[in-house]
Amino acid sequence: MISPFHTIRWIGGIDGHLILLDQTRLPVENVYLDCRTVEDVWQAIRRLAVRGAPAIGVTAAYGVCLGVKPGRSIDEVCDYLATSRPTAVNLFWALERMRRVGQVPRDPPIDEAYGGSRGTRHTLQERLLAEARAIHDEDRQQCAAMARFGADLLADLPDGAGILTHCNTGALATGGDGTALAVIFELARRGKRPYVWVDETRPLLQGARLTMWELQQRGIDATLICDSAAAQVMREGSVQAVITGADRIAANGDTANKIGTFSVATLAQVFGIPFYVAAPATTFDLSIASGREIPIEQRPGEEVTNGFDKPTAPADVNVYNPAFDVTPAELIAAIITDRGVVRPVSEDTIHAATSV
Ligand code: MRU
Repeated sequence: MISPFHTIRWIGGIDGHLILLDQTRLPVENVYLDCRTVEDVWQAIRRLAVRGAPAIGVTAAYGVCLGVKPGRSIDEVCDYLATSRPTAVNLFWALERMRRVGQVPRDPPIDEAYGGSRGTRHTLQERLLAEARAIHDEDRQQCAAMARFGADLLADLPDGAGILTHCNTGALATGGDGTALAVIFELARRGKRPYVWVDETRPLLQGARLTMWELQQRGIDATLICDSAAAQVMREGSVQAVITGADRIAANGDTANKIGTFSVATLAQVFGIPFYVAAPATTFDLSIASGREIPIEQRPGEEVTNGFDKPTAPADVNVYNPAFDVTPAELIAAIITDRGVVRPVSEDTIHAATSV
């Protein structure tokens, strides 16, 4: 099934603009957001109108197209977009690719690399848009590859097996069908009838609002639980596998993902349930040795005390609101990538998988 909505869409040519599905309004309203300036894009990323590691990278790439103008360099625009959110490495990876477009020698005689025909010269704006479109397209293909590898890995699960997931990792979080959720979609497509347990994902409820919405649209059986119910559901024997996405994976396999993922992985170990991560190669950060070096985004306390404009705590209480946590590699049974399955998870196996 093709996704019935467009998470990220570029309209027009080099003078075009970006349209994002405003995820802060889901599941109540389907509202699309016009981004005509790089500042609009920065805001959309910061306030999670678009979110999910691969989707942030794709959006930022289009943001560069909007920002680069006479008097505003690629580096300046990339530096600015890099301040929108700190944890998902896909953002920095995509900005690095866009920067490299500017480093191509000016006015190359034949510019086939950007899709031009022999003898065609492309402007910087054209090359930037071609690169952003390529990043978007590659992400779509990476999602499809992860879905296939993941569904192969989980092929032995019995029909109707329970799969627990955390946060949102579907078509809303990527340029394609998703990471972890795409694996579940593919299992369903193969007739496996997965039964999905969806953590609501406090405080911004990406599981409740977004994952349940996507699963419902695809007709996949699912039940929403409070994050704190995961242990009980596992103890009842309802979960045969856990699968989540990732925002940044260090060279040793330590994995940052939405706050609460580490708790789920710990529970999975206690109950002997395999814990899988699905992430494209663009989510690996081999420049850092371990998860200790991953910057963890701190978000406003109001997301916890006044989420969705409803006070749920007395005014002026102290709040600690890290948006991500790090699951140690030893808790991860396998990482499903677009290049194959990394198992066991170690520096060597990650190096081998990401260097193909
Ligand atoms: O704060 P968010 O909603 O951007 O966090 C998203 C997640 O943690 C996802 O699980 C992660 O980006 C993987 S999505 C393909």
